Amino acid sequence: MTTATIPSGKRILSGVQSTGKLHLGNYFGAIRQHIAFQNDNTAFYFIANLHTLTTINNPDEMRSLTRDVALDYLALGLDPERATFFRQSDVTEVCELTWVLATVTSMGLLERAVSYKDKVAHGHQPRVGLFLYPVLMAADILIYDADIVPVGADQIQHIEITRDIAGAFNAAYGETLRLPEGYIPEATAKVPGIDGEKMSKSYGNTIGIFDEGKALKSRVMSIVTDSTPVEAPKDPESNNVFQIYKLFGTPEEIAEMAERFRSGGYGYGEAKKALLEKVDGYFEPFRERRKQLAADTDYIEDVLREGAARARVEATKVLDRVRRASGLD
Ligand code: ADP
Ligand code: TRP
Repeated sequence: MTTATIPSGKRILSGVQSTGKLHLGNYFGAIRQHIAFQNDNTAFYFIANLHTLTTINNPDEMRSLTRDVALDYLALGLDPERATFFRQSDVTEVCELTWVLATVTSMGLLERAVSYKDKVAHGHQPRVGLFLYPVLMAADILIYDADIVPVGADQIQHIEITRDIAGAFNAAYGETLRLPEGYIPEATAKVPGIDGEKMSKSYGNTIGIFDEGKALKSRVMSIVTDSTPVEAPKDPESNNVFQIYKLFGTPEEIAEMAERFRSGGYGYGEAKKALLEKVDGYFEPFRERRKQLAADTDYIEDVLREGAARARVEATKVLDRVRRASGLD
């Protein structure tokens, strides 16, 4: 299911929720791959605002978060000429497919979904929309005949569920839907947060891609470390600063930091400064680009509308197939 070969000539699809500021986990786990794959593939990327509706119930916040994610993606290098970039809710066909798929999905399959149980355990209301989240995600993927879905490790189960649902539909009505593969890069499948847990908006342990100045410094400096004194040798693999540094450093720089930790006399404070410099420098050009893009208020809306028009053409083809197969035509 996890694949390491760089795809080319494939249909790539992925979605990102507009639930808050994007962070390093989103970038290295998913967005970087999305941007890279737009060149040699047919790519579809969308802002999963229908999924976001399971957590955000404030219309102004919904609009501004959607716009923020769009800006983030464009600033990070998404090229709307190469990739089809749109708002999930603009392709209403996906809701029809969700319903059809729900009729072939067993309760047991959704009851095993870890993310539902997790969210309810973290205080989410157990609503039907949240329970159906994986079916909507399956519709997102299947409606574009996607071959490959690049995501972080936490989404593997959703892709397996998608394959199960597509299999159930095909078993009932004949070969209609294409089964997708996940693309999960080994090294960045689970980026740790400043507390060492998986970096996630919902855990408050993120470093934002567009954080800068004091805010960025304070996030990096608050990475949790143990109390080993400066002089003592330290195991680089078991500390968070090094784990995050590995995402940015060249192989030589990574080897050098590991060596300094092992030999002792190198404190976490110094390592954090080296990391801060890397994070700051890496995202600096993207921050600038974001500021330029944000100045043009119509641009984002135009991009998303055009993207949706292109996406609907593709979605309609698959939905027509589904309608014919199931006798809804
Ligand atoms: P969050 O957990 O912060 O709410 P999302 O669920 O919106 O993030 O994830 C958006 C994309 O980023 C998904 O493909 C997800 O797998 C990936 N992702 C999120 N957090 C991480 C992480 N810590 N490491 C690797 N990938 C991640
Ligand atoms: N559930 C995904 C997440 O939280 C977002 C998403 C919605 C998605 N639909 C998708 C990802 C389709 C890939 C394909 O990250």
